[in-house]
Amino acid sequence: MKVSDKAKDAQTSVQSGQKQNRKDIVRRTVFIALISLMLALIIRLSRFEEVGTAREFFSPDSLMRIFLTACIMAVLFSTILVYTAFVKRERVLNRKYLNVLAASATLTFICGMVFGQLVNIYVVPLMLSSLLVATLIDKRVGIITSILLSQSFFLTYLLAFGTEAIIESMASVITSIVASIFMIAYLEKANTRLRFIALGAVVGLLSAIIPFLVSIVAPTTSDDILYALISSLWAFIASMLSVALYMVILPIFEFVFKLNTAFRISEISSVESSLLRRLSKEAPGTFNHSLVVGNLAELCAFAIGEDPQLAKAAAYYHDVGKLEHPDCFIENQKGYNPHDELIPEVSVSIITNHTQAGYNMIKKAGLPDIIADVAREHHGTTQVNYFLYKAQNFTEDDVDKEDFSYNDPKPTSKIAAIIMIADTVEAATRAKGCASEKEFRLFIHNLIKDKADQGQFTDCAITFKDLQRIEDTLVEAIPSMFHARIDYSKQPR
Ligand SMILES: [Fe+2]
Ligand SMILES: [Fe+2]
Repeated sequence: MKVSDKAKDAQTSVQSGQKQNRKDIVRRTVFIALISLMLALIIRLSRFEEVGTAREFFSPDSLMRIFLTACIMAVLFSTILVYTAFVKRERVLNRKYLNVLAASATLTFICGMVFGQLVNIYVVPLMLSSLLVATLIDKRVGIITSILLSQSFFLTYLLAFGTEAIIESMASVITSIVASIFMIAYLEKANTRLRFIALGAVVGLLSAIIPFLVSIVAPTTSDDILYALISSLWAFIASMLSVALYMVILPIFEFVFKLNTAFRISEISSVESSLLRRLSKEAPGTFNHSLVVGNLAELCAFAIGEDPQLAKAAAYYHDVGKLEHPDCFIENQKGYNPHDELIPEVSVSIITNHTQAGYNMIKKAGLPDIIADVAREHHGTTQVNYFLYKAQNFTEDDVDKEDFSYNDPKPTSKIAAIIMIADTVEAATRAKGCASEKEFRLFIHNLIKDKADQGQFTDCAITFKDLQRIEDTLVEAIPSMFHARIDYSKQPR
């Protein structure tokens, strides 16, 4: 290709990128306008005694209020998006995250209007949206959402219902921001439901001090201690209400928006989940192999700063496609090998098909995309040497090596690369005896180098430093994990 052609191609690709960016901006602007208008309508409708009839609702004054409230909401959403772009650019471009933001803000506004009006101004579960955003998008975006959303909510609340409760509203804003920041800061430590509820209770108690003090100090509110205590109790109930709503809504959001959280990953990693239960019954050898690969992948992911739980879950599912023909895989065979009766071309097509079959099964089960992608990518475009050599022994003609290779995408994530390595190492180590630790290290090093030399890691962001850390982790972990198999006193075969 000529230099001028290359320059033309580059220019065309820049232009199409700019066009796509412009389209994205327009799409996001329309989306923000619609969501803002919807929230403004909800706020207006919540003042039902004022807008009891269609005529009143569509009066110029009412429409102007809706428009101005929508403008406030649009500023709020735009600011959150600008901040999201600042901290996590790839997330602001993803429509899924925009939907999460809009859905959690809308839900929180509805709950806030309902509980604030019907129960008490302190019982506004504003922490709900910041917890959802922190869990599903990013913690920093969760905190900024808490600050902006709480203030916007009370501004629109006061505009809609009058300013009599201005001090209580301000106290409620600060209480919800304080509670949200504490909850988000300790979210990772609350890795079980019970711990999460306990954290909500502690944060609720701490933040309840604010309305208590405000009720005593404020000149416009009663200085009665009982009133202050009741205000604190409402604030505590608001925290617990946010926690309860979060626990109910999070699994629905995870399912609807197909997002992974620690809760979801731990659920799908359970051997009680249907595909894994099937694997343990119908392909016990593959099931055991997957558990070992899971342990290795978890350690390797931790070593290079990837999500260990996600790596383990993806490893558990990487070979589920073998469920289509479990007996055709050596780890499940008990004496009888169907490949003895098949020509190598048929054998290899059964073997290589387990990646796509696994991808389809995982997709059908509604599991996260990354789990399905790992199942499809974990062999990349590697060769199935056993059947290639068998075919070469059968014929004098040249055998096309591509016919004896996987034809799948190469690993596109570091987790898929880790599982490719852990899978290879687990299978190769099974029958390996090494004379020394040095020799064992060289053995693992060569297995990883072989994959890298075949270009299997060109489509993911894994670095040489990552590969070195993975090698170190495997060299350290495998002898203790397979102490019966790795015997340094044995001579290599
Ligand atoms: Fe496999
Ligand atoms: Fe495997």
